[in-house]
Amino acid sequence: MINHYDFDKIPNRSGTGSLKWERYSKNILPMWVADMDFETAPEITEALKNRLSHKVFGYTIPYDSVIEAVLNYLKYSHNYAVKKESLTFLPGLVPAINLCCNAFSTEEESVMTVTPVYPPFITAPRFSGRELITVPLILDSENKWTFNIKGMEKAIKPNTKIFILCNPHNPVGRAYTKLEIEKISDFCQRYNLILISDEIHCDLIFDTSSKHTLVAGTEEGIAERTITLMSPSKTYNLPGLACAYSIIENPKLKLQFEKTIRGIITEINCFGYVGCEAAYRYGNSWRIELLKYLEKNYLYLNNFLCKKIPEIEFIPMEATYLAWLKVDRLNLNSPTQFFEKYGVGLSDGIDFGDQNYVRLNFGCPHSRLMEALERMHKGLLKENVIGHEG
Ligand SMILES: Cc1ncc(COP(=O)(O)O)c(C=O)c1O
Repeated sequence: MINHYDFDKIPNRSGTGSLKWERYSKNILPMWVADMDFETAPEITEALKNRLSHKVFGYTIPYDSVIEAVLNYLKYSHNYAVKKESLTFLPGLVPAINLCCNAFSTEEESVMTVTPVYPPFITAPRFSGRELITVPLILDSENKWTFNIKGMEKAIKPNTKIFILCNPHNPVGRAYTKLEIEKISDFCQRYNLILISDEIHCDLIFDTSSKHTLVAGTEEGIAERTITLMSPSKTYNLPGLACAYSIIENPKLKLQFEKTIRGIITEINCFGYVGCEAAYRYGNSWRIELLKYLEKNYLYLNNFLCKKIPEIEFIPMEATYLAWLKVDRLNLNSPTQFFEKYGVGLSDGIDFGDQNYVRLNFGCPHSRLMEALERMHKGLLKENVIGHEG
């Protein structure tokens, strides 16, 4: 196969105000926040350059070609036909999740999610003074993380108003099956919940023949209670362009959301729209190569851990570039501090709801992943946390 894009290239990100790279000193490889160390697709850069050459950067409202690109993407990539009236462009999913808690529940009501999960799912209800109910995922008979519906039924309260779903799931990397999604839809319908469905990782399933199940497009009636949140930012490495969108088919809910965001969410930046449109119109061949590269990194990581650090447990994953690693058998006081000492910056599982884990971002050139794993291994050997092989 001919590779058209160079994912081995190591971009120098110093001096760019990178959240990921500014966190640590030069000696630590940052493998934490979900931001990849790849240049974005050249097709996207080209579109941004064209926009830049116009030299006028006024307030920008959603325009026809970007709306058309999003609607076509939803229809042809995810078999989800929506009207343009259902779309709202937003600067990010995190503000959207926080605003949804305010829009669709009161301080007397509670919000449910499943853990481990992307930290803003845990903090958003708390920031808005809502009670948070969390139910841990469980491993099924095939050793896959899945929903504990019985546990959710037990934990739900009469005042529970919202369920927040992450599909594919950050940090466990599950791309839920249609059956699992139907169970969640059914749960939300039975308990009359608003479903906030974060599907930002939907184009990052390694197996490109396997379809993402877009929840609002499944069971009849579920779209009426669903807020779908999407963005091309994770897939195309564009989070700094701050362009995301919600899809709310139910006009009553859409109005409720619009009232909440009024005066808070204003125009999205003009480059965000350009990046979004170019990603959806021209980015797919880059995405397909990216997924092959990510899968190679994933397999390398899995193999490395099996062979060299079997004490770290790693459940197989299907999507994303975020690996959820169980490190409790290493008996470290603070796993993140330990690995930082040896030059690797990871996300602490406690922020996701489970202190026995760390999360490692393998969305980076292969050589960097190899270096990070070698550093982790060396540190563990040096402090006799694990034994020398043979
Ligand atoms: C599940 C999930 N939702 C949302 C985000 C961030 O979204 P945004 O940058 O649009 O706020 C991330 C980033 O890692 C994520 O993993």
